[in-house]
Order: sequence, then C-alpha cells, then structure tokens
Amino acid sequence: MQYNFDEIIDRRGTDALKIDAVPNIWGRDNLLPLWVADMDFATPPFIIDELRRRLDHEILGYTMRTPRWFSSIVAWQQSRYGWEIKPEWLNFVPGIVPGIAFVISCFTEPGDTILIQPPVYHPYIHVPQNLGRTLKENTLDLVDGQYHIDFERFERDVRGCKLFLLCHPHNPGGRVWTESELLRIAEICHRQGVIVVSDEIHADLTLPPYHHVPFAKVSAEAAECSITLMSPSKAFNMAGLTSSYSIISNEELRARFHRHLDNSELNLGHAFAFNSVAAAYSHGTEWLDQMLSYVQGNIDYIGQFLSEELPQVGMIRPQASYLVFLDFRKLGLTHDALNELIVDRAHLALNDGAMFGKEGDGFMRLNAASPRSIIAEAMRRLKEAIG
Ligand SMILES: Cc1ncc(COP(=O)(O)O)c(C=O)c1O
Repeated sequence: MQYNFDEIIDRRGTDALKIDAVPNIWGRDNLLPLWVADMDFATPPFIIDELRRRLDHEILGYTMRTPRWFSSIVAWQQSRYGWEIKPEWLNFVPGIVPGIAFVISCFTEPGDTILIQPPVYHPYIHVPQNLGRTLKENTLDLVDGQYHIDFERFERDVRGCKLFLLCHPHNPGGRVWTESELLRIAEICHRQGVIVVSDEIHADLTLPPYHHVPFAKVSAEAAECSITLMSPSKAFNMAGLTSSYSIISNEELRARFHRHLDNSELNLGHAFAFNSVAAAYSHGTEWLDQMLSYVQGNIDYIGQFLSEELPQVGMIRPQASYLVFLDFRKLGLTHDALNELIVDRAHLALNDGAMFGKEGDGFMRLNAASPRSIIAEAMRRLKEAIG
C-alpha cells in the first residue's frame, strides 16, 4: 500500500499543542508551526482502526497489559535491532519524560548529580533541576557538522554522578551514536558505578544508512548499568497517547524501579496504552519505511535549498529523526535579533536553540515532519526574511 504524506491535514481545533498553543506562546497566529516534535502526517490507519475497535465497546474501564503488548515489543526489538529481550524486563511508563523523572526519583536523592550532554532535549535540564538534583554538563563538540563526545572530558565529568541521561539518538543534533561510542560509554559508566538512562524514543526514526544499536545491547556492562526507555510515540505519531515502556535486564535495578512504579501505580496505563503499541509494532514496518523515506526527502530538500539559496545558514544533517538543527551563527545576530528574524519576519514557529542549553544559541530547531509543500513554504519564508 502506498501512503500519502503530501496531504495537508488541518489540525486546528484539535487541541494540538503544536498548532493551538502558538497564539499563547508567540502572541500571534500567523506563524507556520514547525516546532514541537510530532508529525503533521496522519497517524497510521492500523493504529486508528485499533483504537476505533476499542471504542466500539461502550465501557472504558481499567485496562491491563496484554500478552500482545509484551510479545509485540519483544518481536519489534528482535526484528528491528536484533536485541533479545525478555517480557519480564518490560514495564509501562506514561511517557518518556515522566519515565526519566521516575528513574531520577527512584535512584537518586535531592542534591545528587546527574550528567547531561548539551545542547540537549530541554527536559533533561529542567526535570532534574525541578526535582532538586544537581546538573553536570558534558558539552558535545560540533566537529565537521556533527556532534561528538570528547571521551577524556566525559570520563572526568561523569565521575561522582549518579545518573547519566543519554539521548540516543540525540535531539536536537540527530546524531546516532555508534557501537564503539556506546561501548566506551558503557565501559566508563559501569566502572564508575553510574546508571545510564538511555532514552531511545527516536530510535525507530533512524535514517538509512545509519543503524540504531540499543545501548543495553552493546555489552554485558551496558546491560548491567542501564535503563532503556522507548516508545512508538514519535515514529508512529501517537505522542498524545503517552504510551512508553522501560526495558531493564539488570535484576536489581529492575526490581527497585518496578517497586517504585508499583508503589504509586505509575505504570497503570489506560484503555489505549497497550493496544496502540501492539498495533504499531505488529503492522508498522511498511508505513514506517515509507514515512522515513519521505522525511529523508524533506531533509534533502532543506539541505539543497540552503546550499543553493541561503548558504549563510548551515544545517546539522540528522542521522535520525525529523528534527533539523539550523545554524544561523554566520548571520552574526544577537539572540533577540535572531528570534525577531524567525518570528517577526519569516513568520515561523521554531524551537529556539538556546532552550537546549547555551551551546544551542544561534541555532533554531525545525521539525521537518510535514508535507513537502509546507517545508518548501518555510524555506521560502526564510529566504524572503534573510534576503
Ligand atoms: C529525546 C526525547 N525524549 C523524550 C521526548 C518526549 O517523550 P514523551 O512525550 O514520551 O515524554 C522527546 C520529545 O520530543 C524527545 O525528543
């Protein structure tokens, strides 16, 4: 079956954060919204059909984790990543960010130090801070258009930390960490007794020729010191269902985390939590491959447009996902002037790079998961604004 990603779907009035929150945040409604990380493509029909079938029954009572939920996740990890996991390693979490917060609450105390790698997905900064933890920054190096880890510095920075929040693949850089990088992280963190929280929400969006390797799969050390968080929410455009899961092979870490979830029933789920995941993973391969090839086309379009029409604007080419980190530093604008250019002159709602840490200043994150005509319009607006 051929899916149509060119279709423009009017999301206004659906309480979509990406669209309906724009007037509140930016104080105007004439902006093209290419910010929050969900997609303007239809959620796949096999997921919608599954939800519809459920709604055909008139009672929305408590819902349990079904054998199909377990088996579809196990099969997906096996077929997509060659990762053999056991059903008992899994638990439900109502979203990855809540999952990160639960891990922090479970394994650390106020005042403990947590390592992050800015520029990075902003809740990695706010959640630990909101929970009274201390942040340590292991800044990524931007070399030849991609982010890299300076391992000497990493080894120093991770010392004394309780947790390391690994964004894998990385947002906003779109970097797919290689097996050898993951092995070094595992070796260092294991030796130093640091728990690695591997947030792999963007994994299913890895763009060929890159390959995602689950962190916990790279070595026995990685498996022993890590907690993996995953979800089909990004890849299958179902973020509003807040249906994610943890994978923990280390028995001790698992028992402690599962007890933490059980104690407050944080892992209860809801009537659409388990069937949606099972539907995505049971029927999703063909749709996902087509969608990724469309997104790759959008990224290529942006790359070509910038190099031909706006060579003063750079771009970090994502190896995974649809988020494009645009580099405006050559324009030499202040933070406010860049925002004025993007909002007041280009009429675009993008994520200000500075929200991912000071290293993101001078960048803007553009969400390329929209029909090509919208992406073309965004580029046209940018060109007109910059001149
Ligand atoms: C790296 C990363 N982790 C987590 C999330 C959000 O996950 P959730 O909506 O399940 O909390 C995002 C969303 O953009 C993300 O980019």
